[in-house]
Amino acid sequence: MMAPFTVAIDGPAAAGKGTISRAVAAHFGLAHLDTGLLYRAVGARMLLGEDPIAAAQSLVARDLENPDLRTADVAQAASKVAVIPEVRAALLDFQRAFARRSGGAVLDGRDIGTVICPQAEVKLFVTASAEVRARRRLAELAERGFETDFDTVLADVKTRDDRDMNRADAPLKPAEDAETIDTSELDVDAAIAAAISIVGARKAD
Ligand code: C5P
Repeated sequence: MMAPFTVAIDGPAAAGKGTISRAVAAHFGLAHLDTGLLYRAVGARMLLGEDPIAAAQSLVARDLENPDLRTADVAQAASKVAVIPEVRAALLDFQRAFARRSGGAVLDGRDIGTVICPQAEVKLFVTASAEVRARRRLAELAERGFETDFDTVLADVKTRDDRDMNRADAPLKPAEDAETIDTSELDVDAAIAAAISIVGARKAD
């Protein structure tokens, strides 16, 4: 059995965490968990009228397959339920168990390196300016057929940043021992190459 090897990738919305995490997982043959999906699934159930704590405590795999999880409304709802300590506590064990599975795992989110896996073998903090992130998110939404405009998306990104960075429980911030990758001026391939090089160096240790 291979020893657990955890890669924690944190950062604000639309900085490129998802793309980098999937590429790192594929390159090194690690499992991948997008932890934002857990909060989105709870947020989606809250939008349907459920109590968010009860929703977090009874989350099932099927909740993660909801095709609406990627909408802007669900993203905002996710960042609202993510402020509630009982919601975060209900999702903790699942994330920790995933992180330590044999064969290794990449988890991306906001508090993976700081709270969920402070012992992770590699910690990355992936960031970019709010304007660059809004432009990317706008293109992504347009590709999926959602019509919106730059100012709306930028305001959404900033509201979510503010809520994620200023909450009392597990706020978004780089772990002290995280390596930061600023993707503002990097294309996708360069950002992925930077992450793979950092993870590869630690894996060889
Ligand atoms: O990463 P994504 O944009 O899908 O996350 C949606 C929201 O879920 C974030 O804005 C954040 O509030 C919350 N989240 C969190 N902790 C994580 C992952 C996501 O609080 N580890």
